[in-house]
Amino acid sequence: MAQPMSRPSPVVLPRSGGDIIIRQFHPKDADQVHALLIEGLVYGPESPHNTAQARNLYSRISCLAYFGCALGLWCLCSRNIVLRISGGALTLGAAALFIYMRRSITKMFVDFCANARATDMADICHSYEVPLPVDGVQAPVPQGPAGFWVAAIESPESKTSEVVGYLGLDYRGGATAISDPSTGELRRMIVSMNHRRRKIGSLLMTAAMDHARRHMPPLETLDLETSEFQPGARKLYEKHGFSFVGKRTLRSSPLFSMAVLRFRRRILD
Ligand SMILES: CC(C)(COP(=O)(O)OP(=O)(O)OC[C@H]1O[C@@H](n2cnc3c(N)ncnc32)[C@H](O)[C@@H]1OP(=O)(O)O)[C@@H](O)C(=O)NCCC(=O)NCCS
Repeated sequence: MAQPMSRPSPVVLPRSGGDIIIRQFHPKDADQVHALLIEGLVYGPESPHNTAQARNLYSRISCLAYFGCALGLWCLCSRNIVLRISGGALTLGAAALFIYMRRSITKMFVDFCANARATDMADICHSYEVPLPVDGVQAPVPQGPAGFWVAAIESPESKTSEVVGYLGLDYRGGATAISDPSTGELRRMIVSMNHRRRKIGSLLMTAAMDHARRHMPPLETLDLETSEFQPGARKLYEKHGFSFVGKRTLRSSPLFSMAVLRFRRRILD
């Protein structure tokens, strides 16, 4: 049975310049959480967007565009006017194809962030059942299986809290046709690019999984999704006992699609 808990028990990672604390989301974190989303998925180094763009440089369609461009430029050097006009059209067409493809990749990730901000991340407390802070500072632990953990560098002197990572546990409890009361979904994992490989992602996973264990039953299984462009995240999930269970294809345009990979683990295994 779920054990009710009222006191937060933050995990603390000592660090010079302020401890890193794993705690529940507080409404004052919202702006930083939204900023990290776009940094982590679109513009930051090792973001899936940047990885997708880098890999796309070697895709078949890119190679076709390079070839078209090169052939078009060669034709442009001809003395034959028809060949020169065709060469110009071919060069422009190939360049347009290349630019269209790159823009559709960016659009897919920007749209993904916009959709997150318009749906579950529009009101994190409501979506992840995080109780509003009672004393204005400490966010209480949620009573149900859902939750949203942030890793924050808290400085008692300046009373500031810098959010450097987060992870949500979404639980619908059978409320929708496709949701299963025994399954929760880990979502929105991000660690700031300046704080990676310091076990912050692992601490967030451990906090969410410890919380999930306290809610067995009904929880039995945790699911999550990542993409083919997040090899680091995949390693992290596998290290925490998640196994690949299947994939689906997400298409943003006729020229670009990506594989979304689903992982699962039984909470007690
Ligand atoms: C994936 C991410 C959350 C990892 O956070 P993190 O705090 O750096 O992870 P940790 O330090 O806890 O890493 C734990 C282990 O995971 C694996 N790992 C994490 N990042 C990795 C990377 N970039 N490359 C390879 N392995 C990686 C390693 O095995 C690592 O252990 P090690 O450092 O002892 O080798 C972070 O890189 C990130 O935010 N990436 C961009 C957004 C993203 O992909 N989010 C996932 C959404 S599905």
